[in-house]
Amino acid sequence: MDKEPTQIKDLEKQVAAREAVKFIRDNDIVGLGTGSTAYFAILEVAELVKKGLNIKGVPTSEHTASLATSLGIELLDMKDVQSIDVTIDGADEFDEQLNLIKGGGGALFREKIIASLTKKEIIIADSGKKVARLGAFKVPVEIVPMALNYVVKELAKLNGKGLVRMKDGSPFITDNHNIIVDADFGLISDAAALSESLNQIEGILGHGLFVNLTAMVIMGKGEETITYTK
Ligand code: 5RP
Repeated sequence: MDKEPTQIKDLEKQVAAREAVKFIRDNDIVGLGTGSTAYFAILEVAELVKKGLNIKGVPTSEHTASLATSLGIELLDMKDVQSIDVTIDGADEFDEQLNLIKGGGGALFREKIIASLTKKEIIIADSGKKVARLGAFKVPVEIVPMALNYVVKELAKLNGKGLVRMKDGSPFITDNHNIIVDADFGLISDAAALSESLNQIEGILGHGLFVNLTAMVIMGKGEETITYTK
């Protein structure tokens, strides 16, 4: 019987995760991503720990922290690490320059700090995540709640239409007790310039455009993987 699209996606996530953990060495500090793709990598990291490798994880979200702990992965707090050897995380979109949109799961702020502390940031993805140009997926922007009206006006000046992310009828609240505005800029012609502009807006704690932070994207394609490096 043919595989359902979700089964194929999960298979692609899994093969990409298996390929990515090959870059982990004994005694590494490993950043643990958030989301349904990173989930498969966390399972693989737990297997390495069971085999006896001395790996310590740095979680990008509370959800990932509880999952990793339940699987026996010892954790470090990001405030206690100077650098991270390898991080394996997912993305909502990536392009050929390995720029990303992240934050569909709402963990973008911690994910970006961890990516910035990481020597080798590996993004794993199913084949639906590759785009010619970023922007079909709205850019998540984490903001301090009191700054909402100001930030939405500033986003509009950049031709971005911002909508507060909702969950179960209330604003989605991040692990850092902030809210998320998903900003639609249309297809983005210059991700680096837009990222810089967003960095300048007061009240924005972080945004989901990840520019020049990724060393490698491993994409599952059916049962195979395709690796993109710069
Ligand atoms: C969470 C993220 C995720 O990596 C991104 O949303 C992709 O998620 P998934 O692997 O479930 O498609 O950035 O903040």
